[in-house]
Parts: sequence; C-alpha cells; structure tokens
Amino acid sequence: MTRLLPFRFDQGEQTLWLLDQRKLPFEEVWVPCRTAAEAAAGIRDMVVRGAPAIGVTAAYGMVLAHLSGEDPAEADRVLRHSRPTAVNLFYALERMKPHWGNPEASLAEARAIWEEVERTEQAISQHGAALLKGQVLTHCNTGPLATGGYGTALGAIVEAHRQGRVSHVWVDETRPYLQGARLTAYELCKAGVPATLVTDNMAAHLMSKGQVDAVIVGTDRMATNGDFANKIGTYALAVLCHYHGIPFYPALPLSSVDPKLNSGKDIPIEERSALEVTTIRGVPIAPEGFPAAHPAFDVTPHHLITGIVTEKGVLYPPFDESLPRALARGAGR
Ligand code: MRU
Repeated sequence: MTRLLPFRFDQGEQTLWLLDQRKLPFEEVWVPCRTAAEAAAGIRDMVVRGAPAIGVTAAYGMVLAHLSGEDPAEADRVLRHSRPTAVNLFYALERMKPHWGNPEASLAEARAIWEEVERTEQAISQHGAALLKGQVLTHCNTGPLATGGYGTALGAIVEAHRQGRVSHVWVDETRPYLQGARLTAYELCKAGVPATLVTDNMAAHLMSKGQVDAVIVGTDRMATNGDFANKIGTYALAVLCHYHGIPFYPALPLSSVDPKLNSGKDIPIEERSALEVTTIRGVPIAPEGFPAAHPAFDVTPHHLITGIVTEKGVLYPPFDESLPRALARGAGR
C-alpha cells in the first residue's frame, strides 16, 4: 500500500508539515507549523485528525516549542486544549514532559512515539487480519492518514485483503464530517482493495441481507473495562452487530486506553459546530439557522464487543481483566 502520511518533520527547516485532510481527496495541500501553537491549531481545525496522528502531532508540537523558544508549559497547555476525546494526545504530552527544556531529547522522544505507532500498527494489522473474512464494514477513517503508521482497523482490513481473507469492504460515509467518504475511500483506492461507499443508515439493511461478516473500527479512548469512544455512529453499529450476531471489533494501540478511567461514562465527548451538520462543504442542506446537534463521538459499552484488537494480540471478555493484564505488560513495548 502506498502510504499517504499525515505529516513530515523537516529538521533543517525546523518545520512540521501537515497534510491538510480537510481538502482531501480533491487536493494535496501541505500546511507548515513552526510553533506549538500552530501545531495545536492544526489539530483543533482538523488539518490533522485521528487519535494516533493527533498524538504524534502533539509530540512534534513540543519539539517546535523548543525550537521556536516557546515556554514548554504554555505549549503543553495549548496543545492539551486542542481536542478533548482522543487520549493519545495526552499520552504523547505526558511522554514529552520529562524532556522539557532539552531540544535533542525532545526530538528523540517525538521520533520514538512515531516509531511506536508504526510498530504497534504492524502488529495490530496482523492480529486483526486473522479475525476477518469475506465482507467487512468499517466506519470513519483509521488508515495511515489517521495514524502516521499503517492504520489500526484499516491496517487490519488491508492486510486481510492482502492475505486473500477479505474480498470486499463496505465504507460508511461517516456523517457529518465524511471521513469515510473522503479519506477511507481514498486510502482503499490507493491500496487496491475492492470497496463500496454506503451512507451510515444502510448498515442494518446490508446486515439483514447477510452481506456483512464483521465490523472493525478504530478507537479514540478506551476505559479499562473496554467501554470505548469512537466516531459518532460507532455505537449504533455495535448494537446492529449484536442484533444480527455479527462480530464487532475495536482495534487500537494500548496507548489509546486511559488507565485512569474504569468505565466509559467519564470519557469527554467533543461537541463540534452545528454548521458541520447543517452544511456539507459550505453548502447549506437545512433551513438557515435551524438548530443542529453535533456530538463528534459516542461511547460503545464493552458488552457489545466481541474482541479488542491490540498490538499484544486480541483480548477477550472479561475485558476488565484482560485489558489491565495487557496494559501491565506496557503499551507499545
Ligand atoms: O474526528 P476524527 O476524524 O479525529 O475521528 C477519528 C476517529 O474517530 C477514528 O476512528 C479514531 O481516531 C481511530 S484512528 C486510528
């Protein structure tokens, strides 16, 4: 698969370049960030998105803070406030903290975080691929654009297709931000995996016709009991899978588990602009000023999960035992 990565760091130019995902798949535009504040704006404004990619961007944001002479404490604060749900942001910033004031160590740690994303996703892709066969449905975008590595759920799908296990992918468009239509469709085209775009409300119909053998999705934050937040619409898919007896898998690096949360009820859910619901790429689709809600994520309770795909292998219920055991072995190592 030709990996289209969401960022590159140019040490000579002291610049983090972000691929502007708001413009994909129509244009490839790269946005330069030379300060932590610019990296934080890139995360906040969705130039870069996807839990692991947000984490790597935040780590390099701290590198930029050192290079541009920003106060590390202030840089950390601004980055922490860029988006609330994906725990990878906070995981990366915690790892950068011991290196405040040391540009070389800071750069080495940011590189290590990025390399960890690549390493863990190779393992996740292999473990996930072994679970998949036939026709698979996925939601949102979990490929290299969302991570900077090989992808989590999409990494597993692409690997399963390479192994001849998966024949076809149903891609949820993922209203309202359309990560599925714009980004996953684009990545699957590049990977040469046969796929069909569907609107989110078509999943039940496909399942009732026996056209979905498994659903695999990404994760923005998982509690230690297995409850997890992912893109809005994920919970509905889990309920549908339960009803139809279809296996449902979240795929994630263990760095997406929040060890401080033992249930999903305290996961902060980002509320985004109503305009992203009432317009599509700037074109109104509802009466002007009509109220709209936009929770960007939902929480799927652990009892709807068949298995959790991690770099340490697939975890099975009871998750409040298997997850802490896997975490004790150290995320990413
Ligand atoms: O709002 P986004 O585009 O950042 O949401 C992304 C998702 O919900 C992904 O499924 C999740 O980050 C997992 S990425 C491997």
